[in-house]
Amino acid sequence: MFSLHEPASSGSKKNKLNLPPGVFGLKALPYVSKLAKDPIGFFQLMHSKFGKSVRFGLKTVTFHLISQPEDIRRVLQENNQNYHKGVFYKELGRILGKGLLNSEGEFWKKQRKLIQPSFHKQRISEFVEIMAHETTKMSNNWKNTSKLDISKEMMRLTFEIVGKTLFRTDVESYAARIESSLTVALELVTKRITKIFPFPFSWPTPDNLRLKRALKDMHSVVDELIAERKKNPSNDLISMLLEVRDEETGETMSEIQVRDEAITLLLAGHETTANALSWGLYLLSKHPDICQKVREEANRVLTDKTPTLEDVQKLAYTRKVLDEILRMYPPAWVIERTAMGPDNVGGFDVEKGTNISICIFNMHRNPEFWENPDKFDPDRFDEERSADRPKYAYLPFGGGPRICIGNIFALTEATLILAMLVKNYKFEVDPNHPVVMEPLVTLRPKYGILLNIVST
Ligand code: HEM
Repeated sequence: MFSLHEPASSGSKKNKLNLPPGVFGLKALPYVSKLAKDPIGFFQLMHSKFGKSVRFGLKTVTFHLISQPEDIRRVLQENNQNYHKGVFYKELGRILGKGLLNSEGEFWKKQRKLIQPSFHKQRISEFVEIMAHETTKMSNNWKNTSKLDISKEMMRLTFEIVGKTLFRTDVESYAARIESSLTVALELVTKRITKIFPFPFSWPTPDNLRLKRALKDMHSVVDELIAERKKNPSNDLISMLLEVRDEETGETMSEIQVRDEAITLLLAGHETTANALSWGLYLLSKHPDICQKVREEANRVLTDKTPTLEDVQKLAYTRKVLDEILRMYPPAWVIERTAMGPDNVGGFDVEKGTNISICIFNMHRNPEFWENPDKFDPDRFDEERSADRPKYAYLPFGGGPRICIGNIFALTEATLILAMLVKNYKFEVDPNHPVVMEPLVTLRPKYGILLNIVST
C-alpha cells in the first residue's frame, strides 16, 4: 500500500532518461483519490491506460508500477541488492522495529540466517500438533452456528497458533495481552499508512497517543516474556532466538532484537494466513463441488489420531485449493521496493529513490498468464497446466532472497486447517451480507465474512 509522504527523488537529467509513460505532477492529482478509494482498481486503470510499466508521481514522490514477471524478477531477484523495502515499511517499523520484515542489508542477512532454522521442516513438524489442537479447540465451540464472522475466528485461531509456537502453552496469558495491544497498534499504523499526509508521529494527537500507549504495552509484555524465558528456557521460538549464536562472532541477539523479531513473527505470521483462510472458506462455500472433493480427501487422510506433517503432505488436492485461494485473494496483495541506485527494468530507466510497486493481485488475475482468471479452478495448479507459466506470474509469498520465511509454516497450517474444518463442517455464505475486499496492509474482507455452519 502506498503513502505519498516521502522525500523527493532527484529530478535532474530526466529528458535523457527513458522513463515509462504515465502521469506526473498536477496531472496525477485526479488519480490520487482513486488510489485512496480503490487501490487495486487504481493499478488496473494505470496499466490499461499507460501500459505494462507506468510512472506515477506527485512532485515529492515517484512510483514505477511494474506488471511483467521478468520485470518483477529483475527487482526481487536478479538485482535485489539495489532495492530496499518500500515506503510503508517505515510506518510498520513503529511496530516491528528492526525485525526481519523491514531490516536491510548485512544486518537483515545475518538475522535471516539466524532465524531460518526455526522454520526448517523438522521444527514445522513439531508445530503440526499445536495447529491441529488449536483448530479442534476453536471449532468445537461452533456446533451449528449461523452468521459466524469467519474472518474474526480465523484471526483468533492463527494468532493462537503462532503465539503458541512462539511462546508455548504455559504462557497463554501473555499471548492474550499481546494480541490486544498489537491489534490496536496495527489498526493505528494502517490508518497512518492509508492517509496521504498523516500527522507527524511526534504530535500528541489522540491517535498518536493511543499508538504510543499500545506499543509501550506490547513491548512490556514481550519483555516480561523474554525475561521469563531467560530464566526458564523452553522448546519455543523465543528461547531459540535467545540461544542462537552468530557462527562467526559467537554473539547472541540483543534482547531488543529478540523482541522485534518476536513481534514481527507474531504479526506477519497470523494476519496473512487468517485472510487466506477466510477467503478460502468463502470460496469453498460458493463451490460445493470443490468443497466436497476436499472433504473426501480429508476423510481419507485425517483419522482420529493427531495429524502429522506426513498426513498434511498427503492432502494434495487441498493444497491445490489453497494455491488457488492464494492466487485469487493474495493476502499480501502488493509488494513495494525503493531503488537505492539507478537500474533498468523492462527497458525503462529507474532513478535512484523511485518506489517500485508490484500489484500481486493484478498479476494473479492477468489473462496473459491465467486462463479464465476470475474462475476458482484449483486444477490449474496441475503440473501439466503450470509448465508454461513464468515463475514470477505467481508470487503469494514474494520472491528472491526476501521471500516469506514462513511460507512452509503457512502452507502447512492453512492446508491442515482447511481440511480439518471442511471435514467436520459445511459452510454456507450468508446471502444478505456484503463481501467486499479491503486492500490495506493485507487483503481483508472489509465487513468480515458471515457463514452459516452446520456439522457434517
Ligand atoms: C498465507 C500466509 C502468508 C503470506 C501470503 C505471506 C506473504 C509474505 C510476503 C509476500 C512476504 C514478502 C514481502 C516483501 O517482499 O516485501 C513475506 C515476508 C515475510 N513473512 Fe510471510 N506470509 C505468510 C505467512 C507468514 C508466516 C506464517 C510467517 C511467520 C510465522 C511469516 C513471516 C514473514 C517474515 C518474517 C517475512 C520477512 C522475510 C524477510 O524479509 O526475510 N509469514 N510474507
